Order: sequence, then C-alpha cells, then structure tokens
Amino acid sequence: MKIIKVKDYNELSDLTSKIIIKEIAKKSNLVISLPTGKSPLGTYKNLIKEYKKGQVDFSRIKTFNLDEYYPVKKNDKKSYRYYMFKNLFDKINVKKENINILDGDSKYFKKECQNFENKIKKNPIDLQILGIGVNGHIGFNEPGSSELSKTRLVNLAPETISRNKYKGKALTVGISTILKSKKIILLASGKDKAKAVAGLIKGEIDKNLPASFLKKNKNLTLIIDREAGSLL
Ligand code: GLP
Repeated sequence: MKIIKVKDYNELSDLTSKIIIKEIAKKSNLVISLPTGKSPLGTYKNLIKEYKKGQVDFSRIKTFNLDEYYPVKKNDKKSYRYYMFKNLFDKINVKKENINILDGDSKYFKKECQNFENKIKKNPIDLQILGIGVNGHIGFNEPGSSELSKTRLVNLAPETISRNKYKGKALTVGISTILKSKKIILLASGKDKAKAVAGLIKGEIDKNLPASFLKKNKNLTLIIDREAGSLL
C-alpha cells in the first residue's frame, strides 16, 4: 500500500487528475471505474479543464461506475447517472456506448447486476478510483459486506441513509470485483474521514471496515489530505 499525503482537497484533486491523464496517455483504451460523491468532484473539474485545453483524449476509454441508488429513475437528479453526466461525461469526449452505469430503474436487478459483473469480466478494470464513506464503506459495500461479494442489491447503513438523504436501497459493485482491479486509488479528504482512514491504515482487515479489504490488492494507493490523515 502506498500512502500519498497532500495538503488539502485541491492538491488531492490535482494529483488524482494528473494520474488519470497519465494513465490514459499510456493506454488510450483505459478501463476506468469511477466513484461519485464529493471526493472526486475536483478531479472531474480538472479533467474537464485539461480536456478543453487538448491535454487528454477520452474517446477510447471505457468507464464503469461503482454504484447507483435503487430504485431511481435514470433522469432523477438524485441518481448517480445524472451526477456523472452533469459533472463529467457531458463535458468530455467519452463515447456514450463506452459508459457503463448500473440501471437503478431496472425491474430485474439480479439480471442487471449479473450483466454488469460479466461486462467487467470482459473489460477488466485498469484503474479503480474510490471514495470512502465515514463508516468505511466503498461503493455501497457497507460494514458487514463480504470480501467475496459481487455486484448486487444492498441495504444502506443507517448513517448512509441520513448522510445521503436517500431512503431506498442501492446497487453496488462488490468487494471481490473491486479487488480484481489492476490499480486502485482511494481518495480521502476532510476530518470526517479521519477515523475510517486511521482504521484502514493502522487496523487489521475487518469486514466492519470494508475499505480495509483493499489492502489485499497489490497496487493500492491512498491519497489523503491533512484532515483525513489527522488521526494517523
Ligand atoms: C457515497 C458513495 C460512495 C462514495 C462515498 C463517499 O455514499 N456510495 O461511492 O465514495 O459515499 O462520498 P463522499 O466523497 O461524498 O464523501
């Protein structure tokens, strides 16, 4: 596990966007899996800026998204699909057919999850970017999730329901699916992440802190700012 400490959210976003641009420069058809939430927003802004300057070409990349609420309509402003198009996809030249987001509006959630899992198997993730929940969740793999878990429908933890202001369930890529990624970068910014970050770095692997399973991946990098690292 590599730990990169940065000053603040801006530095975290600068570094992460630079890494993504470098990876795409090395492999134009990079398969990247992306998170939502506040953590990657600055990174996405930078990617858009660099794209406009002609510094990066997204035309051959494939994207997967980690999770989606369930049930949620595709054009609902709460949906992660809406978030991704508004904050990134609508503003760069990624091809629509190369974007993969779990359908939170599908009646057949089991089939939806199985298809997603199969698609990832056919297009192994080169680079997985992750945020971390205050309770240590990754994607919507809440405390108690199994290391062997695959893409599935999950109940949200009470703290996630209140923090995210969403009462339903969610679809999430599983821990085992995430662990197969060739390279994983986890972003943590702000004081409210300090406890989960300290648990991840200093503690044992524990299913009550799902992010701790990431230590099983040989190519894991944590990018943490001062506040998120304040309990180390
Ligand atoms: C959310 C999402 C995760 C995200 C995490 C952290 O609930 N399900 O994919 O990484 O929680 O969110 P934020 O970056 O807003 O703190």
